[in-house]
Amino acid sequence: MAGLGLIQFDEWADLYADRVRVMRTSAVRDLFAAASRSDIISLSGGMPDINRLPLEKVAEVAAHAILEEGVAGLQYGDTTGRPQTKQIIRGLMADFGVEIDLEDVTVTTGAQQGLDLLGKTFINPGDAIITEGPTYLGALQAFSAYQPKVHTVAFDEEGMCTDLLEAKLKELGPRGAKFIYTIPTFQNPGGVTMSLPRRKRLLELAHEYEVPVIEDDPYGRLRFEGTPEPLLRSLDNEVIYLGTVSKVFAPGLRTGWIIAPLPILKKLNMVKQGTDLCGSALNQVIVEHYFNETPWAETLTLICAHYRARRDTMLEALEEFFPPEASWTHPAGGFFVWVTLPEYMDTPQMLSVALDAGVTFVPGDGCFPAGSGLGKNTLRIAFCYEEPELLREAVRRLSLVIEERLELYRAFIKAGAL
Ligand SMILES: Cc1ncc(COP(=O)(O)O)c(C=O)c1O
Repeated sequence: MAGLGLIQFDEWADLYADRVRVMRTSAVRDLFAAASRSDIISLSGGMPDINRLPLEKVAEVAAHAILEEGVAGLQYGDTTGRPQTKQIIRGLMADFGVEIDLEDVTVTTGAQQGLDLLGKTFINPGDAIITEGPTYLGALQAFSAYQPKVHTVAFDEEGMCTDLLEAKLKELGPRGAKFIYTIPTFQNPGGVTMSLPRRKRLLELAHEYEVPVIEDDPYGRLRFEGTPEPLLRSLDNEVIYLGTVSKVFAPGLRTGWIIAPLPILKKLNMVKQGTDLCGSALNQVIVEHYFNETPWAETLTLICAHYRARRDTMLEALEEFFPPEASWTHPAGGFFVWVTLPEYMDTPQMLSVALDAGVTFVPGDGCFPAGSGLGKNTLRIAFCYEEPELLREAVRRLSLVIEERLELYRAFIKAGAL
């Protein structure tokens, strides 16, 4: 029966755990299948442009990694990661003013595993957690397995609104939430960056209400302009920090890391043992050799110049084609622009029409907790992957889909039906 491609009655449905029943598949993952059609331009995936990596050099360092490290890369390793990989991470963190010891860090299978481990370590069913709203849908997916009550706090161009955060913390009381999860720099999906005063206020509030802060930072090195804001972790060494090589090297290596206060890290490491015994040593040795043997920072600067050109093209196209009723963010780095349409618009419904028109995007409701009813009039569009001419065409196609719907609503309003 398997493999027929038919929708099959699930005779095992009553056996699944409650946590699986409440989980949703990621709309973006599901979209990847559609986006592979050659006539569709994808504004949906947050995939880095790895086509510009020096592939021969990568092949060379991978060969070195295997030949020079011998069988170490093929053997089980330490649950917390190889010390040599941690040295690389220590160097990357020092660039941003964070000094760590090797014991402060655990290497993970991407930052995504870090999110899952944090959920598994902190969340009991019904526990409150706080995230930006909208937030990274992969984080919502990871946390949802542990059945939290997710409270969202809105952001503006200066990042998470700390007055709203304060109100939320007050409502929940001291230690009323298990953690505050934030992507302060080039937020996914918002593209916005938290200002320094907001960063300081967030940390003050976290201390006042005794709630740990998780800083997820995959995009921090992808800055196109302006001066970097300090990492939350550089302002406060109690912050739990998630890093990854996915956007500075390659997501296929599935190498990320988590830095946390020692008691927390000890618990996370114990949880990790049950999850995977240890991450891939082979991937770690390749990462080590890539960062040690290639001018990776120069490569990244080059790739960032392309991201910047694409960001510019997208913002120009939005100005040119999008209706006056739409507004959007102006990211100084990262991968994403967040678009807000009039309240009555329904972007999940709009998606199939957009697919017919040859363009995909991420409907914003998926970036809010399931069942919250939030974000239906919003969407995330990514500028990281397609070439500029295609980006412009994609924004034009999308604008036609939006315009058609707006026309309909304008006619309804005129007729007094709304
Ligand atoms: C905010 C955020 N956190 C975590 C991840 C997962 O990263 P990784 O590839 O390291 O698992 C992503 C991936 O897009 C992301 O956008």
